[in-house]
Amino acid sequence: MRLAVVPGDGIGPEVVAEGLKVLGAVAPDIEATPYDLGAARWQRTGELLPDSVLEELRGHDAILLGAVGDPSVPAGILERGLLLKLRFELDHHVNLRPARLFDGVRSPLAEPGAIDMLCIREGTEGPYVGNGGVLRRDTPHEVATEVSLNTAFGVERVVRYAFERALARPRRHLTLIHKTNVLTHAGSLWSRTVEELSTEFPEVTVAYSHVDAAAMYFITDPGRYDVIVTDNLFGDIVTDVAAAVTGGIGLAASGNLDVSGTNPSMFEPVHGSAPDIAGTGVADPTATVLSVGLLLDHLGRPELAKKVNAAVAFDLSTRDPKATIRTTEVGDRLAALAG
Ligand code: NAD
Ligand code: IPM
Ligand code: MN
Repeated sequence: MRLAVVPGDGIGPEVVAEGLKVLGAVAPDIEATPYDLGAARWQRTGELLPDSVLEELRGHDAILLGAVGDPSVPAGILERGLLLKLRFELDHHVNLRPARLFDGVRSPLAEPGAIDMLCIREGTEGPYVGNGGVLRRDTPHEVATEVSLNTAFGVERVVRYAFERALARPRRHLTLIHKTNVLTHAGSLWSRTVEELSTEFPEVTVAYSHVDAAAMYFITDPGRYDVIVTDNLFGDIVTDVAAAVTGGIGLAASGNLDVSGTNPSMFEPVHGSAPDIAGTGVADPTATVLSVGLLLDHLGRPELAKKVNAAVAFDLSTRDPKATIRTTEVGDRLAALAG
């Protein structure tokens, strides 16, 4: 097994070091190769993701990424030129983002109940494709567009994946989140796709929430959701809400999957480079460690993923909620528990 590692910017390298510590404790046979990509390389050389590096990454079984983004780099350069480029070039059409409230974790909700969602965010389409432009820039008549792209092929494959995941869970429930009352063109494609595929998955019950209502229900009644499927931008937003109600962004893991297996999938915490705490040693590496769990599952090592997840579950159930997190201490503890 060959793993490419992109620590990236800010707290990225700090949390990735702990993720690798835990990975090494359960799977010492996995060979990890670091790649220097991110703000420092761009500042030094002007490079974001050279073609030669992209080709090398393709030769790995999976990628572990920390985070990208730096206050010294104009917004969008690293995000588009590196992170989104990886997701698009490697056809990461499923962005898998589980949100579970672990025992012992304090939710900001007074009565959260049981929360166990599997958010499936489309990863290669929507308003993220860069289909837009600007006219008359820097004039009072400037016009800017970002046109959301939704294809029958792209929507079908992510909705199909969501049905398959729903079928494998005890509740067998799938919710489409969209804005079909306003975005009628794309909304209709998403709704029809869910409706059509539902005949292939009669065991799965189907529901729908408008995204504005979903943002509310994630806070007032998150237990109603099991698997959700949604487009790229709605998925970005609602998964931060899902993270917040299940204990915070420091616990939210993700996998960017090419379900066809043609390209390596990429695993990363949902959070960013957190410049406000970078270098202080207080970033929670748990999201990265849980992403390592998703990676192991994906690489066909579910017994190792279970060990990692059990270590996290135990650690979270015994954490002192008032104590400040120390990144390396959490990593040491999780590695010892998992190994
Ligand atoms: P962020 O996730 O970096 O930070 C939001 C807040 O959460 C901050 O207060 C931060 O301190 C806190 N936080 C994040 N991760 C944490 C952790 N592991 N432990 C404890 N606290 C944590 O989001 P932002 O501030 O909106 O963005 C900062 C930069 O990161 C931007 O450049 C943005 O583009 C980039 N970004 C990258 C990714 C990615 O690489 N996948 C994701 C989101 C944002
Ligand atoms: C995420 C991030 C990225 C996204 C940004 C940094 C491009 O917010 O992984 O959730 O919008 O997908
Ligand atoms: Mn996001």
